[in-house]
Amino acid sequence: MTLKFCLFFCLSFVLVNSLQSAENVNNEKRILMDDNNYYTLLAKLDALEKKVATLETQNAHSHDSVAFSAELTTTITGSGHHIYFDNVKLNLGNAYNPHHGTFVPPINGTYLFSLTLCSNGGHAVVLQLNANNDILGRMLAGDDSYSECSSKVLIAHLHAGDDVYVQQYGSHDYLYAVAGYGYPLFTGVLIHAD
Ligand SMILES: *[C@@H]1O[C@H](CO)[C@@H](O)[C@H](O)[C@H]1NC(C)=O
Repeated sequence: MTLKFCLFFCLSFVLVNSLQSAENVNNEKRILMDDNNYYTLLAKLDALEKKVATLETQNAHSHDSVAFSAELTTTITGSGHHIYFDNVKLNLGNAYNPHHGTFVPPINGTYLFSLTLCSNGGHAVVLQLNANNDILGRMLAGDDSYSECSSKVLIAHLHAGDDVYVQQYGSHDYLYAVAGYGYPLFTGVLIHAD
């Protein structure tokens, strides 16, 4: 009788104890999971806030148009010259600087440029469009007898702060300015901000 009672009592005790400790473990797990979820949520919130701030900055910039158009008014001979298109017709966003002949993208994005160049009869000229140390493209004009112009359109993905400029290339070096016709001409426009 005593033994039976003890068996029942002891077993019950062990059972209840083990049930309780299982529950404790579960509770601890739940708290741990909650903490994890909490920190995950905090991290997600943080990332979202940063993303929103970046988007707000980009959005503020995207309202600004960036476009320029500038003509060259004097003929340039010699070689290697950086060409300063001096007669600025349009300069939205003020990204083209006629004193340095340089266009500096204010924002990362895809830009389109056009360049029209002319040479006088019996001469030729080659110009190249540079972005920092990269050559975006070269173009050529020249004829045995007549003044001749040619143009090219270039599209480039650029970063804010790059230096974009036109330079004479090679030994063909007679860049003819045709007063009153607006030749040569250099234009650029931001077509898509990143
Ligand atoms: C612009 O591009 C540069 C170079 O890839 C990068 O470091 C910078 O974070 C970019 N800026 C934005 C606003 O995306």
